[in-house]
Order: sequence, then structure tokens, then C-alpha cells
Amino acid sequence: MRTPMIDYLHLLLGSVAEDAGEVASYIPELELADPDRLGIAVATLDGEMYAAGDADVEFTIQSISKPFTYALAIADQGLDAVLERIDVEPSGDAFNEISLDRGTGRPRNPMINAGAIAAHALVRGDDAEARAERILDLYSRLAGRRLSIAEDVFESELSTADRNMALAYMLRTVGKLRGDPADVVRGYTRQCSVSVTVRDLARMSAVLAAGGRTPEGDQVFDPAVNRQVLSVMATCGMYNSAGDWLTSVGIPAKSGVAGGLVGVLPGQVGIAVFSPRLDPHGNSTRGVRLFERMNHDLGLHLMAPAESARSVSRRLERDGAAVHEIAGDLHFTEAERVLRGFALEPVGDAPVVVDLDRVHRANDIARRMLLEGIRRLHEDGHDVRIVDPWGVLGSAETGSGELVRGEQAHGGYVPASFPDVASAARA
Ligand code: DON
Repeated sequence: MRTPMIDYLHLLLGSVAEDAGEVASYIPELELADPDRLGIAVATLDGEMYAAGDADVEFTIQSISKPFTYALAIADQGLDAVLERIDVEPSGDAFNEISLDRGTGRPRNPMINAGAIAAHALVRGDDAEARAERILDLYSRLAGRRLSIAEDVFESELSTADRNMALAYMLRTVGKLRGDPADVVRGYTRQCSVSVTVRDLARMSAVLAAGGRTPEGDQVFDPAVNRQVLSVMATCGMYNSAGDWLTSVGIPAKSGVAGGLVGVLPGQVGIAVFSPRLDPHGNSTRGVRLFERMNHDLGLHLMAPAESARSVSRRLERDGAAVHEIAGDLHFTEAERVLRGFALEPVGDAPVVVDLDRVHRANDIARRMLLEGIRRLHEDGHDVRIVDPWGVLGSAETGSGELVRGEQAHGGYVPASFPDVASAARA
């Protein structure tokens, strides 16, 4: 069978034949871009890539670099140190607005140029070249191939970077920028000049969608850092059209003035599109339309989530034992359903089997909830047996590996209690 995924992407590109807007011209080299280019790539978390149109055409990453460098700044300095210099509030301003918070002097967020320049300066490295090299290494690791800097675009932007230079000097006067402003703008401009395709960007976005992990299992960002980045993309990624975007498309996103646009559907997919003509906000005109259509067709919107599976748990009787067969990935709401089933077992010594053969993954909270349920069944007098061929309940953290792995009697092990569950949920 030929997968309908590719056909869908071609149809999608065909549906935005009409274009409007202008190619960015404040960076002279970008004005040379072919305005009719149009490409899309969709990357799944397990490494599948679907692409159509100009998917192998290279363009500069521009502002799409900002969330990734923000993540690196947090990894290098810690979140508190970064928050002390850069706020996380949507600004409602254009991307290059010369605006800092009146009270604190902080740029409003790391997606506008002021905040992105401050974030770049927080990346470890002695000078512009060293910081840009570390950043290039990071982007390459995310993209799964060695990327390079488009030197012509870099020179072109640096020669016209007066506004960013003004921002950097202003940041230094209010104590929010480390180092020499000219050197920082040079490094930031190199970061914006990294050359990518939509395939690269889709894969980089899929890493964010996967909580900071590549399809090969390389945990590039700590999950808490990843969550911070996605939150800021959701509220500030589309500048002064962020509210429109969040209501009409509804996923964390980031645009760049070269015409790239990425979207991240957490836990599911990373998407990138490329079309150089920009709308008045500086976002790709056709890129925005493509995402609106995908939201309509594919139901991407974060605020329209799927309900958790109802068939997660069923109770059968087998050889005199109550068997709780559980299926699917487990999070809080699925674990709650499982506990509801356990709670129906009358107190007594009847054997209970907890069968996790069809569960491959449980997050920390679900695992603790299940372990607590099992502990209580045991406390009620039941002979609890656990079938856990995939080791879902076992982890170093619970120290339960030996007892619960495979079909073994459950005895003696006291898992984390519910107060612990509650504090884990708050963390
Ligand atoms: O600093 C700049 O102005 C550019 N290097 C990046 C701006 C950008 O991509 C804005 N996004 N739509």
C-alpha cells in the first residue's frame, strides 16, 4: 500500500496555491529568496519523516533558532538565572520591538529579538564564534545531521543589524546582558544564519514534541527545560499574532523571517513548513494557512484533546482469580480508572491478578498510583499476582524491579504512598 500521508501533504500544499505578502527585505540577502518555494515535512517521534514540495531546499533558520538557544541557556545557567534576565510574558509587540519591562528591565520573553539576544548571551562560550559553535552543535544533534552557517546571509544581516545592536546596548545599560553587545549580536546573527531544510526543522520540532528526546533515544533536553520552551512557544512564538494562532491552530510554534514555520504537538509530532512570503507580523503567509488547514483536517489543537481511553481496564474471572487486564499507555486518568476497578474488589483473600501484558508505558504518576493500588489490595488480604513482562512497574526509583517483573507473587514491597503521588504531581 502507498501511505496516504504523502498524498495528503501534496493535497495540502495544493490548497494554498494563492500567496500574499512580501519576502523579508530588511536583511538584503533574504530578498534574493525565490518567493514561490513551498515545502512541508512531518516528523513522528519514532523517526518517521513525511515530506512534500521543496523539502530539500535550504533556508536560514532565523527566529526558529530562538527556542532551541533558550533551552541551551537554561541548561547552561539554570532556569532561575535565565528568568532573572528574561521574562516569559507575551509582549503583543513586533519581533524587533525595542521594549523592555519598565519595572525590571527584562525583555518580555525569549522569542522577541531583545529576549533572544539576552538568551544567546547566556550560552556558555568565550566569544561569538565559540557560542555559535556550541549552538550549531546542538542544532545538528537535534536535526540528526551536521548543519552549517550560511555565511552570505550572516554577513548580510550583520551589516544591517543596527536595530539588534541598539537592543543589545540597551540590554547592557539595564544590566540584562553579559559581555560586549557587538560580540553578542555577532553570535546571535550567526545563530540565526544556520542553514536548514523543513526536514531538519520537523525533526528538531519532533524532539521538542518528545519531551527533549531524539528518535534514537538521545535525551538532548531535560524534560522540565523542554516544557519551559514549549510553554513559551505557545504563548509568545508567533509574536503579536500569538493569541490568533493559539485560538486558530492551538499548538506551540515558532516562525522565522526566511519563511520557515514550525509547530509542535506535544507527545505526537513535529511539523515544519517553508514559504518565504511573510504577513505583516513577519510570519510565513502560506505557512500560517497550512497550519490552520492541518488543524482543521488532523485535529491538532491542544485545547481539543482526546479523552483518555475507556477500555483501559477490564475485569474477568479466571481459575478462581479476579483478573484485571489493563491495556494502553498509562497516565493519571488511565491509572485512576484502573484504581476504580481495584476498588471494586471486596476485602478478602481471593487472588487478584494485575495483567499488564498490553501496557508498554506508564508515566511516573501512573506507576505510583498502580503500585499504591496493588499495595492496598495486598493489605486487604488478597494474594496479588502481577504480570508485567515489559517492566512497566519496575524502576530504580521504586526499587520494585525484582518483585514485580514477570509473573511473580507480590509481597513485602511497600511502594510510594499517595501523599508522595500528590507531591510528584506538583513537581
Ligand atoms: O534578528 C532578526 O531580526 C532575525 N535574525 C530574525 C528575526 C525573525 O526571524 C523574526 N521571525 N519571524
